[in-house]
Amino acid sequence: MSATGEHDDHHGETRAAGHLPRDATPPELRRDEQGTPGGTTGDAAVPDVGVVIVAAGSGSRVGGGELKQFRWVGGKPMLLHSVQTFQRRPDVAMVVCVLPKAFVGDPPPWLFQSDTDRLLISVGGRERTESVANGLEDLPDEVSIVLVHDAARPFVSDAMIDRVIAEARCGRGAVAALPVVDTLKEVDESGLVVRTVERSRLWRAQTPQGFPRDLIERAHAQARAEHLTATDDAALFERLGLPVVIVRGSERAMKITDEADFARAEALFAVPE
Ligand code: CTP
Ligand code: MG
Repeated sequence: MSATGEHDDHHGETRAAGHLPRDATPPELRRDEQGTPGGTTGDAAVPDVGVVIVAAGSGSRVGGGELKQFRWVGGKPMLLHSVQTFQRRPDVAMVVCVLPKAFVGDPPPWLFQSDTDRLLISVGGRERTESVANGLEDLPDEVSIVLVHDAARPFVSDAMIDRVIAEARCGRGAVAALPVVDTLKEVDESGLVVRTVERSRLWRAQTPQGFPRDLIERAHAQARAEHLTATDDAALFERLGLPVVIVRGSERAMKITDEADFARAEALFAVPE
């Protein structure tokens, strides 16, 4: 994908808030510098980041009675970690938690151990893509930057979130990711190696992923119209020829997928970033 040309193409279509050259000072910060009363934190004056945390999966690979996103890890329920991490940020206007239908009317009580003024609950869909689309619909008007995050990644760092938001503010998609370090083999059905895959340009995508609001809404609307799903949101963005960049992710932001991952995540949680 020729990111440079396409970036220029869509640049004019991006709404003002997410439409800044790479090194420009966001207008919110400029307002702050002019001495907004009480602006002592140095953070953006107007919170404009909306976070969609998808927690509507069935956790089939973990199995068991309780949904994995509600199980305790690192001292509290998995989903609560990300809700609180995002709500600690002054630039976050709203966190939308997308829950399985059965829990929307009666969410787990610990979820309210958060800033409930900045918490909305939305209903999940059959596929992750649908769950994200439902969450996007509930974002309030003031949101111009959208982050999409998997509840199954409870230990996301603030520095990683900063990097994603900074790129999304430049008008492009941003994916937290880690480089592939193992040698990759493509194999056939019988397990015979077909070839060794060049890994130097391969990255493992994580979340959060960040986008200018108007563009991710367009990407999801298009996917819905075409009945398409994808395992992440950047893929829907890429399909439209919109630029997506990689920012440094973190091992701690691993996705808890199977039972053994709970122990792995606990171990990583204990290690400083
Ligand atoms: N997710 C969702 N809605 C779906 C499917 C998944 O909100 N219909 C969310 C999950 O809750 C999770 C994230 O998407 O936070 C990543 O999905 P995954 O790790 O695959 O979780 P599950 O789909 O729950 O697990 P499994 O695939 O093993 O059933
Ligand atoms: Mg799944």
